[in-house]
Amino acid sequence: MHFLTIDDLTTDELAGVVDDAAALKRAQADGMPHEALPGRSLAMLFEKPSTRTRVSFEVGMTQLGGHGVFLGDDDIQLGRGEPVADTARALGRYVDAVMARVFDHGDLEEIAAHADVPVVNGLTDDAHPCQALADLLTLREEVGDSGTVAWVGDGNNVAASFTIGAAMMGYDVNVATPEGYGLDDSVIERAEEHGDVTVTTDPEAATADAEVVYTDVWVSMGQEDEREQRLDAFEGFQVDADLLGDAAFMHCLPANRGEEVTADVIDGEQSVVWQQAENRLHAQKALLVELVD
Ligand code: CP
Ligand code: NVA
Repeated sequence: MHFLTIDDLTTDELAGVVDDAAALKRAQADGMPHEALPGRSLAMLFEKPSTRTRVSFEVGMTQLGGHGVFLGDDDIQLGRGEPVADTARALGRYVDAVMARVFDHGDLEEIAAHADVPVVNGLTDDAHPCQALADLLTLREEVGDSGTVAWVGDGNNVAASFTIGAAMMGYDVNVATPEGYGLDDSVIERAEEHGDVTVTTDPEAATADAEVVYTDVWVSMGQEDEREQRLDAFEGFQVDADLLGDAAFMHCLPANRGEEVTADVIDGEQSVVWQQAENRLHAQKALLVELVD
């Protein structure tokens, strides 16, 4: 089984991974060994930079008794033009799973079609389901099993996976994006198959009853040429203390203080961004055990 989008898991499987992530978090905190994947290897392929994804997967494999192999695309033959499919076929002969961060979601699907081992999405232009796993663990810790959560800002990869995942887990999701920067219709349809999603261009309306307000950068990796146009489009979508109200603040990181969020919010007491970042580790360990064991 592959994990390319959050709804590659059924609702029951997703809830199970979040449960297992919470258990692994407790085990780690208690110093209990949990080497569920001894001798197993994970290839970690990166076409884009990463701090959290890279370190949490590599450390996660170590804590599970296995090993993560970092592969920057400039370090391997992919960067010299070896086809994605051939790269995937070769990696599948060595490792027990492949995690890949690539621009084009189609390239990830091609890796999955040829690797012969489970493939995990470490972020594409379309989706960031591993982030969503960590976010769902964070939601459980912060608001419990139900409530209203708001996404404010770009309808990007992180927004897509979070909206579908939160709807699958029973949260009501409000999404506020500027005109022209909304979620794809297909993402909204997939989320609505599972739960209530309200789409608006009004950040105040989206956040009024929300227990959590989540945002991400306005210029994602690969969109640097659109920077000026995007900064104009997202005016009014900054999460500041007024918009946040009493809600908890979430951000997948990295963040740009002064753009999508004010410094007092992300560095303030309602911010749970470091908890989210930590939860990447626990959630991905649970996922790897599910896929590889
Ligand atoms: N949130 C996230 O995926 O961070 P990195 O880009 O540092 O991996
Ligand atoms: N939306 C951001 C997320 C980074 C983790 C990007 O794609 O660059």
